[in-house]
Amino acid sequence: MRSCYNLALITLSICIIYNALVTADALPHVPQYWRNTNMVRTIDLSSYVVRESIAIASQNVHTEPVGEYYFPIPDGLSEHLAYIEVKEKKTDKVFEVEKVVSDSVNQTQYYKIYFDHRIDPQEKVLFIVKTAYIHELTPYPFEIAQTGRQNLIYRGNIYGNSAYYTEKQKTNVKLPTFNIIGYTQKPGSVSRSGNIITYGSFSNQEPGAFDELSIHYEFQQAILTVKGLRRDLEISHWGGNLAVEEHFNLTHDGAKLKGQFSRLEYQQTQYIHHETTMARDFSINLPAHASDVYYRDEIGNVSTSRLRNERDAKVLEFRPRYPLFGGWNYTWYHGYNVPLGDFLRYHKSGRYILNIPFVNPLHNAAFDHVQVRIILPEGASNVKVETPFPINKETHGVHKTYFDSKGRYLVVLDKFNVVDDHSKHFQVSYEYNSLELLRKPLVATTFFLCGFLLNMIFSRMEFTIGKKSNKD
Ligand SMILES: *[C@@H]1O[C@H](CO)[C@@H](O)[C@H](O)[C@H]1NC(C)=O
Ligand SMILES: *[C@@H]1O[C@H](CO)[C@@H](O)[C@H](O)[C@H]1NC(C)=O
Ligand SMILES: *[C@@H]1O[C@H](CO)[C@@H](O)[C@H](O)[C@H]1NC(C)=O
Ligand SMILES: *[C@@H]1O[C@H](CO)[C@@H](O)[C@H](O)[C@H]1NC(C)=O
Repeated sequence: MRSCYNLALITLSICIIYNALVTADALPHVPQYWRNTNMVRTIDLSSYVVRESIAIASQNVHTEPVGEYYFPIPDGLSEHLAYIEVKEKKTDKVFEVEKVVSDSVNQTQYYKIYFDHRIDPQEKVLFIVKTAYIHELTPYPFEIAQTGRQNLIYRGNIYGNSAYYTEKQKTNVKLPTFNIIGYTQKPGSVSRSGNIITYGSFSNQEPGAFDELSIHYEFQQAILTVKGLRRDLEISHWGGNLAVEEHFNLTHDGAKLKGQFSRLEYQQTQYIHHETTMARDFSINLPAHASDVYYRDEIGNVSTSRLRNERDAKVLEFRPRYPLFGGWNYTWYHGYNVPLGDFLRYHKSGRYILNIPFVNPLHNAAFDHVQVRIILPEGASNVKVETPFPINKETHGVHKTYFDSKGRYLVVLDKFNVVDDHSKHFQVSYEYNSLELLRKPLVATTFFLCGFLLNMIFSRMEFTIGKKSNKD
């Protein structure tokens, strides 16, 4: 009886050990070739886009040289990732990083970092991972009065996310204010100095270590999200022109306005408007040579829009008819022309290359979805797109307009979670025969000629009919 009991116990413990092995093995894609000797992490909450910078010193504990490192981001957070960049600490050399397997057990998305060379056994590599996230901050309370104070809650991991054993680490959080309502006080050493809170240092953390970090603080600024931006870039070789039109769907994502908007209170509190979270004035930088600038919202050109000249840009400033409070939307579009030569060049390989920023940042706003549509001239062929960051979707199609015989070549690029870092230039290159330039006038001429001929035939017929009837 007793031995039976013992046997059961042994079997049970074997089962437990076996299970532990299996779960550890559930991540066969993260071989434990690295051991982080130090990790210093800074979370910057000074704007609505949460930026993390993680300096990692890691040692190859494998028996062979290794060139790849796995960086984990929890699924919930990975959805909100807008930007990731990895650089060698000393040289600023950029290391390639790729989104790879997602581990459903640990609900983690892995990003694979490729060092520029394999690191020898026992050698160390020092690098910095920079990430930016949107929608990581929640207003609390959810609703505030017209002139109320807005507070946000940040939630994250006290430790830096790591797929490897970490000997020593520390987390600094930089806040936009000294007005901190509450913050996690344990484990280990927690210290605050002004608007900076420091957690750690912590020693010897297992891979995947987690303890919740939460900070509740004041953020007295508008939280602007462009739910959708559509940019149309239309190239005309004939006119030497690039026509740009941008459609914005903007939302104030801050704490919602409690109750009804009061115009009276709004007027009476003008002297503190700059201290509230409402958004009222907007500005967008346009290229220096932008001309024929126009601006429309649902009702037309709002009376208060103007164009300001700066040294190397034109600035379009506008003030919607009503101020924007939490939960409110504003929709508009604007457009302009620029000389094609400012953005397009002819390469001796026989290709034209359009080189232009992916977005023009709207001050302090993040973008949920950006769609860039590039309308190439009719007859453009062999089209290639190059972007300095991954995009979600690239579609090639046809854009039909009046007078185009075949329709123009259309490239559509879609990207979600866009921040200022994506204002980098991207390239669209294509082949284009200058004879194609003749196609449009030719089509137009043919069109008019046909019209003319038809008209002639028609009048002739009428004439004959008339003659006939005259005869009759
Ligand atoms: C993955 O999940 C298992 C089971 O919950 C856990 O034991 C393990 O430590 C986790 N590993 C990582 C790297 O998060
Ligand atoms: C803006 O929102 C409207 C209504 O939901 C939608 O039809 C339109 O496509 C959106 N525009 C952009 C640029 O996202
Ligand atoms: C909008 O209209 C106002 C007044 O009619 C004009 O001064 C302004 O230049 C216009 N702005 C744009 C961008 O079209
Ligand atoms: C703002 O737009 C969103 C869709 O983007 C919609 O769900 C919401 O109801 C709109 N808010 C108002 C106040 O119209």
